[in-house]
Amino acid sequence: MIFQLLVLLQLCLVTFQNDVNVTVNPSDVTLQLGDSDVVNITSVIVLKHPADVYPTSNLPWVANVTEYVVILDANKSHSSATLHINTYHAGECIIDFNTTSKELGDVSEVFLKLEVVHVVWLNIVIDVVGWLYFVAWSTSFYPQVVLNFRRKCVIGLNFDFLAYNLTGFLAYGMYNIGMYWIPEVWDEYKEGHPRGVNPVQINDVVFTLHAIFITAFTIMQAFIYESGTQKVSKICIAILCGSWTFAIITLIIAAASHGDIISWLNYLLYLSYIKLGVTLIKYIPQAYMNYQRKSTEGWSIGNILLDMTGGTLSLVQMFLISYNYNDWKSIFGDPTKFGLGVFSICFDILFIVQHYILYRGNRPINGEKNKLINNKGFALALFEED
Ligand SMILES: *[C@@H]1O[C@H](CO)[C@@H](O)[C@H](O)[C@H]1NC(C)=O
Ligand SMILES: *[C@@H]1O[C@H](CO)[C@@H](O)[C@H](O)[C@H]1NC(C)=O
Ligand SMILES: *[C@@H]1O[C@H](CO)[C@@H](O)[C@H](O)[C@H]1NC(C)=O
Ligand SMILES: *[C@@H]1O[C@H](CO)[C@@H](O)[C@H](O)[C@H]1NC(C)=O
Ligand SMILES: *[C@@H]1O[C@H](CO)[C@@H](O)[C@H](O)[C@H]1NC(C)=O
Repeated sequence: MIFQLLVLLQLCLVTFQNDVNVTVNPSDVTLQLGDSDVVNITSVIVLKHPADVYPTSNLPWVANVTEYVVILDANKSHSSATLHINTYHAGECIIDFNTTSKELGDVSEVFLKLEVVHVVWLNIVIDVVGWLYFVAWSTSFYPQVVLNFRRKCVIGLNFDFLAYNLTGFLAYGMYNIGMYWIPEVWDEYKEGHPRGVNPVQINDVVFTLHAIFITAFTIMQAFIYESGTQKVSKICIAILCGSWTFAIITLIIAAASHGDIISWLNYLLYLSYIKLGVTLIKYIPQAYMNYQRKSTEGWSIGNILLDMTGGTLSLVQMFLISYNYNDWKSIFGDPTKFGLGVFSICFDILFIVQHYILYRGNRPINGEKNKLINNKGFALALFEED
């Protein structure tokens, strides 16, 4: 992590040292489809001869500039020219520059990034929805933690679920950090999705790191509070050992071959499949346990309600992004995020049915000793109504 940040910092310094002689201002433009805009291209040095600059769009059907060539005048400080941007389709594109001027030298580092969206204000909605699901998902862990704390007991909370959760979030955390911070991975992703937007945002990274921490905390609660005869099942241990063996072997292959046999992007996708697999099965033991006990006591419904809110908002955001950037591929470029949303919602519905309909208000049937909650106050009522 720190190493990656240092590499990035170094890249920035190198870019500054290698002083580029032209600048584009602004260099990053978001436009609504059909709108046009102008940007200036300016020479930082005083030219002895007029310089010709050729802009080229990498995706001319998304957007291009009207000018085939612009001339920067000689004998002038900050000699500049105007570029007129035209937009044709929603998407992202880059305008690169080229010149025959020896004085300007290498301008391949200079570029203009264009984002063409269907509706500009939808980007604000996308950000707001992103933060809402971040909050919903992040807080979804706490009702269970509070319930365990109030009961001083974790009977009714399935331990397989906790074990799957920890593995799932560790794998997902590695995937997110890789996609977000390792430039090689991002370059590779761009090759496969030239019009794509990075499916991993900073709030995904923060969410997963927090999730790992709070899941570990819940596991610690399971160790110190009363847990009856509950333990992690052999099937669960076997599945998790298998997953981690797979993750470590593919990591060794990827590292030993420097990403030739298994590219780093593919390695991260494997990790995301572990997370997806874990998400598919992690709720099954809990649902079965509720069925056996004919009760959801000890299993927090607040957790489920918040999880479902987060899942729904996450799907809504993905569809809004895909619509606005005309990039339906990126939904499927990130199977974890999409799968995570859909499967979680299905299980959330099952738990809601168990809690509010099937086993409404039931105490466990098998006579297990249950600690009743003392001093049931207002705060608790927010988290759990028995
Ligand atoms: C571009 O250049 C023109 C003329 O030099 C100037 O009026 C305008 O403010 C510049 N626009 C930007 C965005 O710098
Ligand atoms: C920009 O794209 C439009 C539509 O594809 C095309 O008619 C026009 O010639 C292009 N302009 C340049 C400078 O390439
Ligand atoms: C720039 O100035 C130099 C000397 O001052 C002169 O020789 C040259 O012709 C000028 N170039 C242009 C394009 O005006
Ligand atoms: C830039 O221009 C030079 C000379 O005109 C040409 O050889 C080169 O291929 C161009 N590069 C790009 C990326 O267009
Ligand atoms: C910028 O211009 C100077 C003088 O013409 C030249 O020596 C230098 O190589 C140019 N920089 C780049 C990045 O080409």
